[in-house]
Amino acid sequence: MIKIAPSILSADFSNLAVEVDKVSNAEFLHIDVMDGHFVPNITMGPLVVEAIQNKTDNFLDVHLMIEDPDNYISDFADAGAQLITVHTEACPHLHRTVQNIKEQKVKAGVALNPATPLTVLENILPDIDLVLLMTVNPGFGGQKFIDTILFKIEKLRNRIEEEGLDIDIQVDGGIKPHNISKVVEAGANVIVAGSAVFGAEDPGQAVKDLKEACMG
Ligand code: DX5
Ligand code: ZN
Repeated sequence: MIKIAPSILSADFSNLAVEVDKVSNAEFLHIDVMDGHFVPNITMGPLVVEAIQNKTDNFLDVHLMIEDPDNYISDFADAGAQLITVHTEACPHLHRTVQNIKEQKVKAGVALNPATPLTVLENILPDIDLVLLMTVNPGFGGQKFIDTILFKIEKLRNRIEEEGLDIDIQVDGGIKPHNISKVVEAGANVIVAGSAVFGAEDPGQAVKDLKEACMG
């Protein structure tokens, strides 16, 4: 089953409770945390997760685009995160970081920037619940989808199937109704969409449109 993860990065921050309610027909809610170091933008922290966690029944998916994520994992878990995804490029001790996430009894995800090869997952894949393949360079909403990642998605899906693992493949960046079927066909099953959902007049309808467009 395909799961849609609206990113609140493109939502109206002055009205977050109302905004998240509009996408209750999606499965996930994607929260983009940026620190101004790992990426050239600053967004939100655990306080925002805590503020919205009882305003939604969607699965709370926290994407950490920050340096030294270990320092904040328990804060996000306490705030209500159900999945915490860290960037492999920010984690010199990735195995330890994944264990830290698991100790908090939340799901663990690992994100890869567009130029990061799948080989970095070699010795961590069986330990994680989700791989996030970035389809833009992280930092901002509303960027253009990078086409060459489709082959990377396909390669990872094949590897997961070959090894009989139960791991979600999430894609993030530039996903719209016109290209969602390509990423789904390549093997992604959790689809982040920011501007396509919260940039639309009716975000609930935009979620529906994305689900329908999955079929191609
Ligand atoms: C990019 C973020 C994305 C972003 C997606 O750094 O991780 O989640 O909000 O936004 P769109 O769908 O507008 O590309
Ligand atoms: Zn994201």
